[in-house]
Amino acid sequence: MLENNAALDSGEIRSIVTQYQHKPGALLPILHAIQDKLGYIPPDSLPLIAEALHLSRAEVHGVVSFYHYFRSAPAGNHVVQICRAESCQAMGSRALESYAKASLKIDYHQTTADGEITLEPVYCLGNCACSPSVRVGQDVIGNMDNKKFEQLLSELTTQKVAVQ
Ligand code: FES
Repeated sequence: MLENNAALDSGEIRSIVTQYQHKPGALLPILHAIQDKLGYIPPDSLPLIAEALHLSRAEVHGVVSFYHYFRSAPAGNHVVQICRAESCQAMGSRALESYAKASLKIDYHQTTADGEITLEPVYCLGNCACSPSVRVGQDVIGNMDNKKFEQLLSELTTQKVAVQ
């Protein structure tokens, strides 16, 4: 469950930093724990993390920005991931991602203006036999095409049953 109360977030972040800061290689576990708890890494938390780990803010920012997995802002209500790995590319995922970006009017790592959909790339969902594949939350959907993608978006934004 994500929580958006700034004061609560700050307390949670301090608790996570305290829990990990004395362990070797603490930065990545701290960042993962914060994102798992809050859904993103609040930019305001970087100075606290840097100070606790005796790093510069730039060093912490560099790691957060290097790994696309880490978000600097909350995700939309639904995170839609399009597979860009080999099998899915061979079966048309590049065209699908172009369609998705145009349809949603966003690029990867962005969220639609209404806060509904965040679009992300992913690299193999273990569903290569049904390429191209897309994941929404825990659900992997294969044989995706533009028409099914539109249906998926419609169902997500109206909270209907997922596309099979
Ligand atoms: S390459 Fe896309 S699911 Fe494996």
